[in-house]
Amino acid sequence: SLTALKGCRRCPLWEHATQPVAGEGPEDAALMFVGEQPGDTEDLTGRPFTGPAGQVFDTALQVNGIRRQEAFVTNAVKHFKFRPRGKRRLHQNPDRDEIAHCKWWLDLEIQRVAPRLIVAMGGTALESLTGSRDGLLKRRGRFEQTPEGTPILVTVHPSYILRLPDDRLRAEETARFQTDLALAARWLVGDAPDWTAGSPASRA
Ligand code: URA
Repeated sequence: SLTALKGCRRCPLWEHATQPVAGEGPEDAALMFVGEQPGDTEDLTGRPFTGPAGQVFDTALQVNGIRRQEAFVTNAVKHFKFRPRGKRRLHQNPDRDEIAHCKWWLDLEIQRVAPRLIVAMGGTALESLTGSRDGLLKRRGRFEQTPEGTPILVTVHPSYILRLPDDRLRAEETARFQTDLALAARWLVGDAPDWTAGSPASRA
């Protein structure tokens, strides 16, 4: 069970993290969001998307009328991976093995919640859910599915937006991220383009 996540030793990341961060939300949520891994804030709060990336995420939900408490929000990797630098802890990308080992927990969450749609936010989530992160920026805004057949909507990670160096670019990408989440909301009410293979919405 997810209680056992606290004792997880499937990869070495547990050792330096404060705590694992499990997904949160109703077990019957129709919509699941998958990010990368907890950040510095989440490692301390124990809750997903409660730091700066969470603010971008929360705003995108709000402008689309998606209530966060009705969605299941989680990450591909459950422990914060970082490199100490002075008093700071610098984010490091989880590697292929860490993503693969932690898929066990993500699969458990997917099985429990059985969401109708998963929004994959960024390359790590996409790799975990589909086996490949190649071409993320071409795939974003489109529907795919997991090997088990759960529909996925691909989008970027909110931290990617925060890292953009230029105000105008950041504004554009924020709007695009919000448009992607709008598509997820429309899909849930049967108002999005058909996502089946070969349809305009799924063609690369
Ligand atoms: N970034 C993520 O991918 N997940 C979080 O929970 C916070 C930041």
